[in-house]
Amino acid sequence: MERTSQISGFYKLSYEERLAIIKKFANLTDEEEAILKSSGALKVEQANRMIENVIGVMPIPLGVAVNFLVNGKDYLVPMAIEEPSVVAAASNAARIARAKGGFTTSSTESIMIGQIQAVGINDPFRAKMAVLKAKEEILKKANDQDPILVSLGGGAKNLDVKVIDTIQGSMVIVELHVDCKDVMGANAVNTMAEAVTPIIERVTEGKVHLRIISNLANLRLARASAVFPKEALGGEEIVNGIIQAYAFAAADPFRCATHNKGIMNGVTAVILATGNDTRAVEAGAHAYAARSGKYSPLTIWEKNKDGDLVGSIEIPMAVGVAGGATRSHPIARINVKILDVKNAKEFEEVLAAVGLAQNLAALRALVAEGIQKGHMALHARNIAVEAGATGESADKIAEIMVKEGRIRADRAKELVEEIREKAIK
Ligand code: MEV
Repeated sequence: MERTSQISGFYKLSYEERLAIIKKFANLTDEEEAILKSSGALKVEQANRMIENVIGVMPIPLGVAVNFLVNGKDYLVPMAIEEPSVVAAASNAARIARAKGGFTTSSTESIMIGQIQAVGINDPFRAKMAVLKAKEEILKKANDQDPILVSLGGGAKNLDVKVIDTIQGSMVIVELHVDCKDVMGANAVNTMAEAVTPIIERVTEGKVHLRIISNLANLRLARASAVFPKEALGGEEIVNGIIQAYAFAAADPFRCATHNKGIMNGVTAVILATGNDTRAVEAGAHAYAARSGKYSPLTIWEKNKDGDLVGSIEIPMAVGVAGGATRSHPIARINVKILDVKNAKEFEEVLAAVGLAQNLAALRALVAEGIQKGHMALHARNIAVEAGATGESADKIAEIMVKEGRIRADRAKELVEEIREKAIK
């Protein structure tokens, strides 16, 4: 059978049927299947080794977005998220993109920046020259800290020095450029930044304070673009509406924050599912969105000569497929396997595609039927279950409440009673 992520009606399948498809697609072992089935797969002992003061674990639903075709390769994308509609929306947008070949992506090398702050320097520009002169010595010292990364072709590749004016006077900021290859890199970069401190203090004749990675990963960018045919989106009016929605976000920071939040709904869910650092990528994304001094959308929407919608995204993507929780968390490890990416760059590019898909889905819904319709159907079902409904009766009650436009706990209780009375009679 052809290995494809294009699975129509995936959401209609039973849990068991879905899991069987994923198991086959990703070649999961029986043990991995069993881990996915047990919602308490992260043992308290494991959690206890990950963070401090552990009192339990916090399960979040794990879904799989289907239909993703990125550079001609099919992906099933694991997403961990508490918000309804996100997984369905990503799958739907990816399905629409398939008609025109799916997503095309690219990325830079996986370069992270480590910042070293030197203060108390009377002649900061002389100090800057001195750091640049000592570049080879500094890079060597940095690379001595991580022979494994260096052996894999990564490591400290370059450095930059800037003199900044602050409310505390001039400071000399040294920036190490470290190719982190398949890891996110915070540990590697922070270790290197700390190790070069004596050299920086010696040559600047200043005092080094902070030594820390920057989450504004503007040298580690992932890009994706896709064409969404106008017919599949609902016609020309919807295409124009999406472009106007983008213009709204580009002109107004209040809308732009929500526009970018929609992108991160998808990106963050995949990052969480793979045990990566959600906060690092969120911080980088929003800082990058504001790099011109004006907070702007991370995506761009335009029309091609056929009137189809064309979307593109460029986003910093500091993630790894090795190291940290991506390996130590049992479910994160399985999710990386399901993704089937051969390195961090490939993963970063899939994430950019997910961000673009998520944005398209949100904008399309907002421009067409509004966002509440899909949300409300699920919400109504949850309210019905809370009111005591089960199985088919929960679906029936949800349907009635949506139709009536009265999705409320009191109405759900009334309907549960009505159904019960009917059953007794
Ligand atoms: C909701 O989680 C995300 C949206 O608000 C994004 C957007 O408005 O573009 C629907």
